[in-house]
Amino acid sequence: MAKIIGLCGSPRKGATEYALERALAAAEVIPGVESELMVLRGKNIKRCTHCNLCMESTTPLPNYCPQDDDMKELIDQFVTGDGFIIASPVYEATVTGLLKDFMDRFRAKAFANLRRGENPFAKNPRVGGGIAVGGTRHGGQELTLTTINNFFLTYEFLVTGGPLGNYLGACVWSKDRKAKGVEEDEVGVERLEKLGKRVAEYAVVLEAGRLAAQEQNLDLSCL
Ligand SMILES: Cc1cc2nc3c(=O)[nH]c(=O)nc-3n(C[C@H](O)[C@H](O)[C@H](O)COP(=O)(O)O)c2cc1C
Repeated sequence: MAKIIGLCGSPRKGATEYALERALAAAEVIPGVESELMVLRGKNIKRCTHCNLCMESTTPLPNYCPQDDDMKELIDQFVTGDGFIIASPVYEATVTGLLKDFMDRFRAKAFANLRRGENPFAKNPRVGGGIAVGGTRHGGQELTLTTINNFFLTYEFLVTGGPLGNYLGACVWSKDRKAKGVEEDEVGVERLEKLGKRVAEYAVVLEAGRLAAQEQNLDLSCL
């Protein structure tokens, strides 16, 4: 089975979580796909202080980082996916601070592995796509998607915005009305479902490619 991880960057159960659930349900329509929803709301995620111990410590850090919070558990779950959908509400035309803190703290995991010559992810290569949910029609959804896509690029995901016409990912307009607003945005729902299916299709293809590479003893680590 190819696993799609859906990561929700909203601090509340509202429009974004609903949109992500719809995208994951669409992903599961693709045969051989299962999904897992991860939410950052309610989690204790401390901000990266750039102490650089993740890069410099000579002994492995128990949480990848000297900070004691929920990040290790979140990261250990996150890295198990074949495909990823990251969804964020639009805050000041970008992702929420909560999601950005998750992204910044992910650096510790990446470097902890890199220093040992390992890839931080269980599945390589892997694919990611984004969903941005704004209260206004043109409130910065594409800028938000750019931040999500840049996170994917930083950590070597293959990135998709979805099929032709989706461009950078799925842009959704909630009218600040939580799930009800998303439901009423027919175009947004169509886009997020297409995004979910496309991420799932690519995850299945990548899984098949990984198995073929193994059979040919092809080393994909490139490290
Ligand atoms: C601090 C803050 C900043 C916001 N900034 C924007 C914005 O720049 N553009 C926009 O379209 N909506 C903005 N909104 C509205 C939310 O993006 C919108 O209500 C979204 O659907 C919330 O998602 P949620 O229900 O999952 O929390 C902002 C909301 C908050 C609380």
